[in-house]
Amino acid sequence: MSEILSRAELERVGKGFDPVAARSWSINSDCYREPKFLEIEREQIFRRTWQFLCHEEKLREPGQYVATDIQGQSLFAIRDSSGELRAFYNVCKHRGHQLLKGEGTVKLITCPYHAWAYLPNGALKHAPRCDLVEDFDVSKVQLTPVRVEVFCHLVFVNLDPEAVPLAEQAGDLAREIMAYAPDLGSLTMAHRLTYRIEANWKAVTDNFLECYHCQVAHKDFVTLVEMDTYKVATHGIYSSHMAKAGRQQNKAYSIDAASVTDHAVWYLWPNMTLMRYPGRGNFMVWRFIPVGPEETYEVFDFFFETAEPTEAEMEAIRFIDDVLQPEDIGLVESVQRGMRTPAFKQGRYMVDPAGSGMSEHAVHHFHSLILQAYERACGA
Ligand code: FES
Ligand SMILES: [Fe+2]
Repeated sequence: MSEILSRAELERVGKGFDPVAARSWSINSDCYREPKFLEIEREQIFRRTWQFLCHEEKLREPGQYVATDIQGQSLFAIRDSSGELRAFYNVCKHRGHQLLKGEGTVKLITCPYHAWAYLPNGALKHAPRCDLVEDFDVSKVQLTPVRVEVFCHLVFVNLDPEAVPLAEQAGDLAREIMAYAPDLGSLTMAHRLTYRIEANWKAVTDNFLECYHCQVAHKDFVTLVEMDTYKVATHGIYSSHMAKAGRQQNKAYSIDAASVTDHAVWYLWPNMTLMRYPGRGNFMVWRFIPVGPEETYEVFDFFFETAEPTEAEMEAIRFIDDVLQPEDIGLVESVQRGMRTPAFKQGRYMVDPAGSGMSEHAVHHFHSLILQAYERACGA
């Protein structure tokens, strides 16, 4: 059953929020702590938005599949024998057992429970002993489909059958990404970092949406990125965060021989950042996945020109893992503890009209999308 938010409660948590960021208050800290809001977000956000699955490289050949879980809903994408990319709930039509795990290649999707076998197009091919029962038509059994879309060579899935295609929702995002990362289609999965953070997924996302804290909290990072060139722009369901980052003399990591000297980051609603960092050809997809109201699982995927990172790429990964992430995790976990006290309910956004990296208008933009989702939970 859908979680319903009362109008009074919505007004309370959005009190002081203004469409103009410079005079707005942030959303109430209760949204970062109370289980009810996560339930609403699961229903209204995670089960209705496009979620990253993998690079298309994993789903090129017939029978190749990748399984995942979106807030407790198991599903997989698979290339069928006619070359069409499909996705289904990862649930057998006999008694509901999970069908596939992880990733791989199959000719038939065989359920591990009683061996019902499905074709990669989702049609049931065979159910042992089904000829003994009445009115059982194998040709009428079909896995339940899920929406799937390739966007900038990345595969996304959406549990909402009515979802507007990502390419349509995302405006100019594809054009921007492909202008910065024209090689994205030929990059390959090279590394993954994961973290468990004791903070709400929105606190983690808020932190990624502003560089107001960079000079204060990321002393090495700001020697790499030319902060005076940093610009943040918000558009529909994404925001872009761009800066020059070609400083050879920096304390973050070596960018000798780098072919990429821009720092290009896109936030994509609701819980992803897509990035291109200085170095060789590269792309990253970082996800902030809620585990509980005050716990987030972060998954950072790195796509490089080769599956084996170079020493320079490992240095960049170590910088993220050993320096940048501990800095950011410390910040967001402290914020979460602050939100547990009566001393913090809402704050102001420090925005500037020039849209610089120091401005927090992209946090305000994110919060406006959160409030729109809560609004939907209010019903008619
Ligand atoms: S649950 Fe899948 S074959 Fe029985
Ligand atoms: Fe940060």
